[in-house]
Amino acid sequence: MEFSRSVMDLTKERVSVRTYEEQIIDPEKLGKIENYLQKLNEGNTTKDRYLLFNMENFKDEDVKNIWKPNVIKGTRYCIIGISDKKEMSEISFGYDFEKIILYATELGLGTCWLGGAFNRDGLSKHLNLNGEEFVNIITPIGYEKDSFRFMPGAMNLAFRAKSRKPWKVLFHHNVPENPLSEEEAGDYKEPLEMVRQAPSGFNRQPWRILKENQKFHFFIGIRSSYGFLPHDLGKIEIGIAKCHFELTAKEKGLKGRWKALGDHEQSFSLPNKWKYYITWIDES
Ligand SMILES: Cc1cc2nc3c(=O)[nH]c(=O)nc-3n(C[C@H](O)[C@H](O)[C@H](O)COP(=O)(O)O)c2cc1C
Repeated sequence: MEFSRSVMDLTKERVSVRTYEEQIIDPEKLGKIENYLQKLNEGNTTKDRYLLFNMENFKDEDVKNIWKPNVIKGTRYCIIGISDKKEMSEISFGYDFEKIILYATELGLGTCWLGGAFNRDGLSKHLNLNGEEFVNIITPIGYEKDSFRFMPGAMNLAFRAKSRKPWKVLFHHNVPENPLSEEEAGDYKEPLEMVRQAPSGFNRQPWRILKENQKFHFFIGIRSSYGFLPHDLGKIEIGIAKCHFELTAKEKGLKGRWKALGDHEQSFSLPNKWKYYITWIDES
């Protein structure tokens, strides 16, 4: 198992936290995060790298200058995902960064994916970026401030349910016009549900998944790139979906593998806006 706690519990517990206690993070937790990031960096076959950024010794105004006004408050720590402009690999970046988010959740720390709402240039000045590197995504980490939502996962999920699109919009059976029911999803009900609960930019929930026998095809169903962002948001979100789907499937003892089907292997006809990325082939 990837984490010592259930990935389904961590998924249900995680929410975007934007206001934090002004509190130093327990050094043991910071050490664990450093180790986790180091392991990810060592095992990485892409040009992405992840680092912990500690602003404990910064002046207040310098910290405020990193966070944009009225977005993130209270914390002096973040995890930074750095990528290479010429060799972007957004899908694996999204997958890894979401694992980092779930790991921080396991440590009892709040997080919030930030693709746009921080001072990218100001932060970059503190980093030794080399060559074509740039700051891709960051997350603040810290202790969530006076949250009324410190409640068990199930209640948190009920609280969040309203902000998520229904199954019939996201999951489809054989053809895009045909919704996939929870019964038809079988053992994959939870892996799919964990995709539905995942974070996405602007909460757009762009994922569309088509089940065809033992195959689950993953698409982005709405606009994917935005000029003001340095990355293709849709690809990052496919990585997030892969992370939740695969880790939940593994936790349930399901076996399978990812394959990007070639054009000739794609039998489905799609709505205009859908763009195909990857397929999970169940081998249980
Ligand atoms: C790739 C990505 C980029 C995001 N960028 C921002 C951001 O710049 N500012 C922000 O406040 N939230 C950002 N978010 C957080 C989303 O708004 C949030 O995940 C979504 O509204 C769902 O809410 P939840 O995370 O509480 O479940 C981002 C999320 C993702 C996945």
